[in-house]
Amino acid sequence: MATFDVIIIGAGPGGYVCAIRCAQLGLKTAVVEGRDSLGGTCLNVGCIPSKALLHATHQLHEVHENFEKMGLMGGHPTVDWAKMQAYKEDVVSGNTKGIEFLFKKNKVTWLKGWGSIPEPGKVKVGDEVHEAKSIVIATGSEAASLPGVEVDEKVIVTSTGALAMEKIPESLVVIGAGVIGLELGSVYARLGTKVTVVEYMDKIIPGADGEVIKTFQRILAKQGMEFVLGAAVKGAVVQDGKASVTWAAKKDGKEASVTTDAVLVATGRKPYTAGLGLEALGVEMLKGMVKIDGHFRTSVPGIYAIGDAVPGPMLAHKAEDEGMAVAEVLAGKHGHVNYGVIPGVIYTTPEVASVGQTEEMLKEQGRAYKVGKFPFMGNARAKAVFQAEGFVKIIADKETDRILGCHIIGPAAGDLIHEVCVAMEFGASAQDLALTCHAHPTWSEAVREAALACGDGAIHA
Ligand code: NAI
Repeated sequence: MATFDVIIIGAGPGGYVCAIRCAQLGLKTAVVEGRDSLGGTCLNVGCIPSKALLHATHQLHEVHENFEKMGLMGGHPTVDWAKMQAYKEDVVSGNTKGIEFLFKKNKVTWLKGWGSIPEPGKVKVGDEVHEAKSIVIATGSEAASLPGVEVDEKVIVTSTGALAMEKIPESLVVIGAGVIGLELGSVYARLGTKVTVVEYMDKIIPGADGEVIKTFQRILAKQGMEFVLGAAVKGAVVQDGKASVTWAAKKDGKEASVTTDAVLVATGRKPYTAGLGLEALGVEMLKGMVKIDGHFRTSVPGIYAIGDAVPGPMLAHKAEDEGMAVAEVLAGKHGHVNYGVIPGVIYTTPEVASVGQTEEMLKEQGRAYKVGKFPFMGNARAKAVFQAEGFVKIIADKETDRILGCHIIGPAAGDLIHEVCVAMEFGASAQDLALTCHAHPTWSEAVREAALACGDGAIHA
């Protein structure tokens, strides 16, 4: 048995970042993690391995689509799937070992095993019970199940199985046109798989900016992805190594089915809190999520919760920010997360990124706004590298010019968005961005041009 200031349960982006910050602030810190490697879903079976496959398949796409246009002739590589998988595993282990190094550097103790909370102030790992003044639940989430669709992680897979398929399927039905469905769907589409995405709503990435949605769907369709919208998947049955998927159209209930080599279930995730003993402790829950107050406190004194286990977007960076903020709270400081400025990124090609409000949200609020939009067609750098599809759209308050949101579809959108995030954190106006010198030729000029378009007009449009 050992005694700590803080024990964090779960070593994903929320938990490990929280642990490092706690240690930096002088707290004796331990993290309970049952996986063989640190980093949680994100590093092991989520963000990081998917980015490796997205990168590899993007390179393949570039070779096939653009190399000859640049005078690079004769390059038609074939895919060695086992080698691509090995590359992905290398990327994962490099990153997870990096967290182990950071734990050692910061003197964070890794308690190996699955943890539970037998009583406030105590955490049980295997046969040992450890003591802590504070406990932070950072146990993340798992794929939500879909009635009538039984996941076997071979033919019918979640994102975890989709990252490690035995072979590249000839056909794939993706259930759900959200972030996971479109990212992994585009990996396989680039590998030559016939990808059909079935989505319950009438549009892909529901909740995103309407214009982004239209452009994004057009581009993905051009890349070979097929969409069946407004259709609810009713079931999937596996027979002889193939799956038969059935869906019903929302408008008239008409059913259709298709036989496919693989099915990816990407219909959302749910908090993972099983086995912690929260019910016995009387920790209040809210629709399956751990209920917290503005200081990440659960209903039981001394127990805190962050990340995917609590309400809010299920994003690694949101969990990281909460991890740092709760560490500050535990160290007697003032931890804070600005939930109004949390970017969202889809790592397809082109990338899609957004922060703040959409036009649709502002219309609903009845708030007067103006829009500055700039197409990447007017951006020299984007045109030079065959990435001139898409646009930057900045939304600002009609009266004050204060930036309220930004929506980008285009090259490096996931990086460009952060200029706007910083601007929003400082309460900047669109004019502040427009007056900031941007290096030429960069993609970031498109952000400035969109800001200029909120005022007297963009130069290159
Ligand atoms: P999601 O919530 O983004 O999308 C699920 C989609 O499935 C929705 O559009 C929904 O309408 C649809 N759907 C639900 N039931 C259906 C049915 N029976 N038939 C047809 N369609 C149905 O969930 P997703 O993509 O699984 O992602 C889970 C979480 O992980 C999200 O919170 C996401 O933000 C996060 N994530 C974020 C990434 C990123 O930031 N790049 C990458 C991967 C995941």
